[in-house]
Parts: sequence; structure tokens; C-alpha cells
Amino acid sequence: MASIASFEGVDVYERFHFLVNAPALFHAVASAVELDIFRFLGERDQATFEELRAFTGVPAHQLRVLLQAVCSTGLVRKRDGAYVNSEAATDLLAADTPDSWTHIILGWRDIYYPAFPRLTASLRTGTNLALDDFPGDEPTLYQRLSRDPELESVFHRAMSAFTLRSARALVRREEFSPVRRLLDVGGGDGTTSALLADRHPEMALTIFDLPSVSKLAASSANAGRLRFRPGDLFRDDFPEGSDAVLFSHVLEIFSADRILVLLRKAHAALPRGGRVFIYGFNVSENETSGVFSARLGLYFNVLASGQGMAYPARDYEEWLGAVGFEDVRTVSGMPYEHGLTMGVKG
Ligand SMILES: C[S@@+](CC[C@H](N)C(=O)[O-])C[C@H]1O[C@@H](n2cnc3c(N)ncnc32)[C@H](O)[C@@H]1O
Repeated sequence: MASIASFEGVDVYERFHFLVNAPALFHAVASAVELDIFRFLGERDQATFEELRAFTGVPAHQLRVLLQAVCSTGLVRKRDGAYVNSEAATDLLAADTPDSWTHIILGWRDIYYPAFPRLTASLRTGTNLALDDFPGDEPTLYQRLSRDPELESVFHRAMSAFTLRSARALVRREEFSPVRRLLDVGGGDGTTSALLADRHPEMALTIFDLPSVSKLAASSANAGRLRFRPGDLFRDDFPEGSDAVLFSHVLEIFSADRILVLLRKAHAALPRGGRVFIYGFNVSENETSGVFSARLGLYFNVLASGQGMAYPARDYEEWLGAVGFEDVRTVSGMPYEHGLTMGVKG
């Protein structure tokens, strides 16, 4: 039997000690990202403290504090007194590319985590109280972000980087091969659709998202073959004429009732034989594991929508069955706690 001090092979005491220090270390890594330290180290074999001081302009004592914190995470190491990126930092943080974790870290720092001191009150009241920090009276973060184009692009850069890191396993699925016209509902800046378009030259793709996001997507590098249909998920009908509907990281934002509304709209918009794909985070079936899923559910409820979570796949299967989809099944175990649940309109 597993020791009570061990959970999924990790010592719980060790995990606790990391966890209680993690908020400070997260911010240290975000500062190192902002100061371009990982990229600087990535461009050379190693750097001395003096070289880093000259590059960052941070005073010696403060840089010493920052580097000690970053080294304590293992992301940067000391070799013969000089600093070097670890393999993980090289992979995750050193390159200035759209899939860099630097975008995700800055997005989480600037948008997600400032919300978390309101968590207890949000959970108690069943309200996403941190949304009060964003001007507007709309009920979700996504709608309010349209008033702040700069923050909206920080959000979508982070979302896009995460998608680039995780969605290659999705677009390789053979279930997309017969699809000719895909409607990507809540398709954001088009990152997932652009990956699908690359993989399936025959596929026509339409993104249905808020007007400000459609505009952002249309002017992004993803635009290529994509078409855009600006609209609101709940107020507007889904465009017809597609033989498949994709919800990628969208249904998890909402409550069961609202998910059923969206699945009925997808069912109505599809022809017989049309397919629905639900892709996103899934907690484990017994709802005890998944740190990415846990963070996401908390963020939805404190800030983004006041509803939703990384539902287990069986919930999506039940909802698809309830609105009339057939051949319902899930591919689980995809990267970053993701799953793909699918159904066919009979
Ligand atoms: C978490 S992002 C997912 C983006 C993309 N599908 C992906 O997987 O990277 C959720 C998307 O849903 C869109 N969205 C949220 N509420 C919406 C609404 N009421 N109407 C239209 N789109 C909405 C947001 O603008 C955002 O692009």
C-alpha cells in the first residue's frame, strides 16, 4: 500500500514545502522572464554574474537574490561560478517563439493570479468576485477583455502558447480526416484551427468567437486559410454548413446547464453524420488529481466565469448523449491532462 506521505509517487511533505514557497518562486521566474535572463543565457554557453548584471541593469544585491531564487527551482544552474540554463529552461523559456512558456507565465501572472486572494469569498458566494477588477458589466472575463486590447492580446498569446505546446496530439487524431468544413467554436486567435489547417489541406475552417477576438485572429499569423464569424456563443446561432464542430477549451468554462445549451446548438447546426469534438482539460475520474485541471477550475470560479471546471470525461459523454449525439467516446491521457470526447449526429 502507498504510504500516506506519498501521492502519485511524490512525497507529500516535499510537495508541501515546494507548494508553500511556489508563489514567490513563480514570481521570481516571471521576473527572470521579464528581464530576459533565460534568453540571454540561451544565446551563450554561460554567463558570469557581472555579465548578467550589465545585461539586466539590476543592482548586484537584488540580482543575487533573484538568481538564488531561480537557481533554487533548478531552471538555472551554476557551473564553475557562472550561470547556465538547465535543459528544461532551454526547452521551455529560452527561445523567443510563439510556443514559449514565457507567454504563459506572464499571462498567468498578469491576469490569473492577481485574482486569487478573492478565492475564498468567490467560493462562498458562488460569484467570480475578481471580475470586479476589470471594467464593464458583462459576466465573463472574455467579454470584458475586449475593452483592453493590450491585455486581451496578452491573454491570447498565453492561450496560443499553451495550445502550441499541447494540441499537436489533437490535430494528429485520425477522426479529423473525414472532416471537410470545421466550425471552431470559441476558436480564439486561431492557433488550433491553423494547426488543423496545416495538417488537413482539404479542410475549410471557420472560427466563431467574440468580435474583438475575431479581429485579433484575423490580423494574426494564423489567419491564412481561416474564415471568421464574429458572434456570441449564447446570443447568436452557430453558422450552419459545417460537418464538424470543435469546442477546444470552451465548454469547461461553463456550468452543466450552459454546456447543454451549447451542445444543443452544435447538434442543430450539424447535418446527419456530423461530428462534435470536445477537447480540453479533464480531471481524473475520481476527481483527486490533476494540478493543471485544479488551477483551471479555481481560475474559472474566482475570475473567468464564476462557473465551470475541468470536468471528467464521463460528464461530457453524458451531456453528448443527453442532446442526442451517438457513438460517444473519449480519448484520454493526452498531454497536459487533456482529453478528446467525440460524438456523431445520428
Ligand atoms: C480559453 S479560450 C480557448 C481558445 C481556443 N479555442 C483554444 O483552445 O486555444 C476561450 C475562448 O472562448 C471565447 N468565448 C468566451 N465566451 C464567449 C462568448 N460568449 N461568445 C463567443 N466566444 C466566447 C473567448 O473569446 C476565447 O477565445
